[in-house]
Amino acid sequence: MADFLNDFIEGLEDHPKRISSKYLYDDVGSAIFQEIMHMPSYYLTDCELEIFKTQSKQIVEQITWKEKFKVIELGAGDGSKTSYLIKQLIEADLNFEFKPIDISEAANTELCSNLKKQFPTLEVTPETGDYFKILKDQKFSDAPILLLFLGGNIGNYGKKDAINLLRLFSNNLKSGDLLLLGADLMKNPLIIHQAYQDSFGITKRFNLNLLNRANRELGADFQLDYFDFYCYYNPENGDLRSYLISLRDQKVFIEKANKTIHFKWNEIIWTERSRKYSLDDLIEMGEQGGFKSVKQFLDCKHYFTDNLFIKS
Ligand code: AVJ
Repeated sequence: MADFLNDFIEGLEDHPKRISSKYLYDDVGSAIFQEIMHMPSYYLTDCELEIFKTQSKQIVEQITWKEKFKVIELGAGDGSKTSYLIKQLIEADLNFEFKPIDISEAANTELCSNLKKQFPTLEVTPETGDYFKILKDQKFSDAPILLLFLGGNIGNYGKKDAINLLRLFSNNLKSGDLLLLGADLMKNPLIIHQAYQDSFGITKRFNLNLLNRANRELGADFQLDYFDFYCYYNPENGDLRSYLISLRDQKVFIEKANKTIHFKWNEIIWTERSRKYSLDDLIEMGEQGGFKSVKQFLDCKHYFTDNLFIKS
């Protein structure tokens, strides 16, 4: 909460204005993100789901641990993909516990009750909070770890930051531990653009929730219809960026900070990066982050990959 206030003011006083995409996922934002995942044009979810539906067995075959291990998922969301993997892990008679980590309490609670229904014997040990803090705080036991970072969340980081994140992961893992990393791939730019600039306005609502959240939590007085949404994909380097646009010259008062922020007509606020990578990029980034690529699992259209890495 104090973090949100400080980051929010700091970002809006910067040039160009920016709001960190990590604040998109309060309970309201997580619910809107569920809507995004159900849009046909948002292919990422369906492609990754296909990989888990059809290749979970192959993924599980890469696990050779006989002792009990931990499956830790960062930003677990509704767990629809993971449940296919869990099913195969159980069928292979492996000994493991599942630890989903999410910043939304509501999402985590729902996930756990769904999993308990589907897998009554599954040991689930959820944690709610900032997943990097939890991962760092986690005093890793002797148990091997399969770390899941799915959904293409790695795209929120530029190449350099992504490597730093992978290094942060590998620093918290032991040699032989595994990382399964979901990443969206570069493809026809039109397909990518349509996934974000959707005709239903759901992604716009998702981004506007940042301002709405500031109204709710920081006592701001944003008028949401004075802002629009725009996203830009650069097919030369795979960078996709999302923005809010101020539709008029306006002032917004943020009560909790006792500050007024000025928005010029057509001024942009950068809200998110959703970087697309090539298969080779991922292998190279993994290597620089302390991992060796074991196998790249792909959907039939080759839009998305789940890349299995081992800590070297
Ligand atoms: C959850 C970060 C993978 O960047 O594609 C979806 C979030 N933003 N539509 C993505 C998102 C707009 C999503 N990730």
